[in-house]
Amino acid sequence: MMMQEAGRHVARAILHGSGRTGARVAPSWSGLMSGSARCISGSSVLSTWWGHVGPAPKDPILGVTESYLADPSDGKVNVGVGAYRDDNGQPVVLECVRMAEQRIAGIEYMEYLPMAGMKRFNGLAIKLAYGDDSPVIKERRVAAVQALSGTGACRLMADLQHRFRPESQVFFPVPTWSNHLNIWRDANVMVKSFRYYNPKTKGLDFEGMMEDVKNAPNGSFFVLHACAHNPTGVDPSTEEWKEVSSLFKEKNHFVVFDMAYQGFASGDTSKDRQAIRIFLEDGHQVACAQSFAKNMGLYGQRIGCLSIVCHSEMEAANVQSQVQQIARPMYSNPPLHGAHLVATILSDPGLKELWLKEVKMMADRIKLMRSLLREHLEGIGSQINWEHITKQIGMFCFSGLTPAQVDELTKNYHIYMTRNGRISMAGVTTKNVEYLAHAIHTVTKAQK
Ligand SMILES: Cc1ncc(COP(=O)(O)O)c(C=O)c1O
Repeated sequence: MMMQEAGRHVARAILHGSGRTGARVAPSWSGLMSGSARCISGSSVLSTWWGHVGPAPKDPILGVTESYLADPSDGKVNVGVGAYRDDNGQPVVLECVRMAEQRIAGIEYMEYLPMAGMKRFNGLAIKLAYGDDSPVIKERRVAAVQALSGTGACRLMADLQHRFRPESQVFFPVPTWSNHLNIWRDANVMVKSFRYYNPKTKGLDFEGMMEDVKNAPNGSFFVLHACAHNPTGVDPSTEEWKEVSSLFKEKNHFVVFDMAYQGFASGDTSKDRQAIRIFLEDGHQVACAQSFAKNMGLYGQRIGCLSIVCHSEMEAANVQSQVQQIARPMYSNPPLHGAHLVATILSDPGLKELWLKEVKMMADRIKLMRSLLREHLEGIGSQINWEHITKQIGMFCFSGLTPAQVDELTKNYHIYMTRNGRISMAGVTTKNVEYLAHAIHTVTKAQK
């Protein structure tokens, strides 16, 4: 339909002549035009360059917020967005961030950062991910580049994979954060999947996962969520991580840890990096895509870090030089402000302590909301087992609601969430939890 429309535009331009010169039909357009446009001879002057472009599909996550904002209802509830809210449903700027802002105000130049970003920030970020005393840091075996938050870190990694391991594929858990698939697809890496979540138990499909890891070709790339898996809230236990690490070693697979929620799972940033610690202890060379969007509330600052543990200091230097070369034509060098904020917080013992308290406070409020939602559902007599609400961890609850039930919640109750039934627990408050429970109970009543 859109192609026909494009063809009509082109035909009109050719027949009537728009008077623009130099706007010839590019050869690559020929496949997008309708037959009628193509068979007309004479001057091929266009009236539009983009008439053949149709609307892009809505992003499954960001599209929810758009629909929520367009709803005029007073009682609407947004549990779609993966951003922390306080108990009044308001966005939060952490106190440690406010203090860091005051400290850096006016004292820093606005010069470009190097392609790899702020060295001090990168050093502090990798200590947070791998541990202050990590041997790989001491041995200077970590290539680290400041990135445009977690998404940018993933994209740099995907491009590095494509450039230097062009024959490789990448495996993602089912389900995963939907943007993972876009990122690696746009970097031209073959995307595969492995079993992760069991809808029957609403927990981990550990056997399925291990089987798929075993059956993947040796030396495959895997993206694992380091903690607080999005969207399921289901993480392997410590013992399970150990088994996963050992199997990965056997298979010589490469792991990219996506760590977008360090601190949000348990409230403790050290505990939340346990998977990375276990893999490093087993001698893996891992990569890590870190984001400070959630745990420091720096969403719009786009501050993150891609790090890659290498075999030697020289290898790390080479890899880092290549990653920054990938960044150069994309955005040249990363933004300054977020790096200053994070570096100020992580390097000052007082601010760091305050930050750790604030992360815990956010994680604790989410845990409390999990308990309240479950209590309310059980209290109003729901016959469904809601144990998974409190068993799952991190920002999200993979509720088990079907797309039809989600649609009903939106239509009848103005409650917004992604159609896979993911509830952002950060959007639940003491003010809306009862309403949410009542609505969920009503749409699931008929379910056995
Ligand atoms: C698993 C996962 N990875 C990465 C990101 C990246 O977020 P950002 O680019 O805002 O840091 C998110 C955000 O929702 C996420 O859930």
